[in-house]
Amino acid sequence: MTEVLPAETREADPAAVWWRQAVVYQIYPRSFADANGDGLGDLPGILTRVDYLAELGVDAVWLSPFYPSALADGGYDVADYRDVDPRLGTLDDFDAMVAALHARGIKVVVDIVPNHTSDLHEWFQEALAAGRGSAARERYIFREGTGPDGAEPPTDWLSVFGGPAWHRVEDGQWYFHNFAKEQPDLNWDNPEVRQDFLTTLRFWSDRGVDGFRIDVAHMLTKDLTEPLPSREELTRIPIDGNHPLIDRDDVHEIYAEWRQLFNSYDPPRTAVAEAWVASDRVPRYASPESLGQSFNFDLLEADFDAPSFRRIVTDNLALAAQSGSSSTWVLSNHDVVRHATRYGLPPAPADSTAPARHGGEWLLGGGDEALLDRERGARRARAATLFLLGLPGSAYLYQGEELGLHEVADIPEEERQDPTFFRTGGAEIGRDGCRVPLPWTASGPSFGFGPEGAHLPQPGWFAQYAVESQEADAASTLSLYRRALGLRHDLQSGEQLDWIETGRDDVLRFRRPNGWQVVTNFGTEPYELGPSELASGDGEVVLSSDGGTAGSVPAETTIWIAPAR
Ligand code: NOJ
Repeated sequence: MTEVLPAETREADPAAVWWRQAVVYQIYPRSFADANGDGLGDLPGILTRVDYLAELGVDAVWLSPFYPSALADGGYDVADYRDVDPRLGTLDDFDAMVAALHARGIKVVVDIVPNHTSDLHEWFQEALAAGRGSAARERYIFREGTGPDGAEPPTDWLSVFGGPAWHRVEDGQWYFHNFAKEQPDLNWDNPEVRQDFLTTLRFWSDRGVDGFRIDVAHMLTKDLTEPLPSREELTRIPIDGNHPLIDRDDVHEIYAEWRQLFNSYDPPRTAVAEAWVASDRVPRYASPESLGQSFNFDLLEADFDAPSFRRIVTDNLALAAQSGSSSTWVLSNHDVVRHATRYGLPPAPADSTAPARHGGEWLLGGGDEALLDRERGARRARAATLFLLGLPGSAYLYQGEELGLHEVADIPEEERQDPTFFRTGGAEIGRDGCRVPLPWTASGPSFGFGPEGAHLPQPGWFAQYAVESQEADAASTLSLYRRALGLRHDLQSGEQLDWIETGRDDVLRFRRPNGWQVVTNFGTEPYELGPSELASGDGEVVLSSDGGTAGSVPAETTIWIAPAR
């Protein structure tokens, strides 16, 4: 660890800004590769796939939680922030994995879950044992109930996963949990909580971690001054920095302190906020005084639609410039239906009540899979991905999207794991379908995921999507990702773009400062490139998401045009 670097030194150092236009590949460790055959992916499994990641051409990996956990929420219920779940390996395995990734030039980002711990965390166990009024309970949010004998919860608030947000403990008090009851919320007014997370951030930074992804970064601080509002009253309080539970301005006091710590390393550690907040509030999280970067989920929530994509890109580049950060782009992650599937489903009816962030999920129960047009979804997904990879800023990819994987819709009830499924009585199908272990080989136990089975059932159709099936095929989705990530190094230049008008509502075309162009045809009719650039020899089509000819862009396809040398 070194002294805090002056801001101008950090900015001048390319090693300090590696993240600005990086391709970050999200690994969901339990479903990536299993070395020991227990059906759960692990860190030694990741080690065996470092060559694969290097060949894919990613700049960094982000690991979802690998900490000790009862898996009440896929590892986002952390029982110990400074260790590795024994089923996933040891700290030595972690060090070996980081060393191997670094040796191939790949940075490592880990997930920090500060809003809540697991109920198995030693602090929570201590709080249960210590009883009401104790210092141990002050680390969490305990309250007396209402009604006769306090048998009713303090408020009628609902958890994000459905069901009540309060749970009663044996001595009659209630604790608050924004997510599952196994995830008690921490009290961020408590100095010990603040101190402990600094220790955790230092622990991983000292182990060579390059950056952090901050889970629900907009929910840590709360104003629980009594009387507490009802659920209905809560909905009427504006989310403007003073809401009792969400996106409070005072959360940035925490991140300012974290930023000091990050900047005390050389190069400074990076952070990206998972903050589901209104676009105009994103720059607060992305500013260099706060976390430095924030996820922008707008493309992930949008339909495959040219005007929406254009508006989102324009707005988010402006927001990024306002914050001094670079924009981030995401189409898939471990919380949403895979984009190949979303784009292959008919649009949700106007009266659908499905949460937008789970786009298309309303269709994925029962026999609705029949409505999925797999081929169309995959074609549009490739086009959207090439569009995204052509943009200025950093691109976050989710494991398996490079294989064009679809959501697995038909997981039997008894094999489901997501608390959303259980807490809504099955009304929300949950996120297991995008977390099914990856297929590496076309046959064999668990399609090469590990020597034995897989912790979620893999469908037979995984065979044709396996890495092994795609590697030798120049036309495969995997080959397209590899070529795109390779070419992207030439394509990325200044963090701007200029739109080129196409005369079509369903075609977007932009030019980067170094002359590279990206053209996406969202429509069903081919788009003629016209005589301008190509015919005059000013450019060459170097990549297409779906074949096509030099003179036109086929339906639902993106091409990249490199400037003539
Ligand atoms: C966001 C994570 O991405 C999600 O998987 C998790 O369930 C919640 N935060 C709670 O930690």
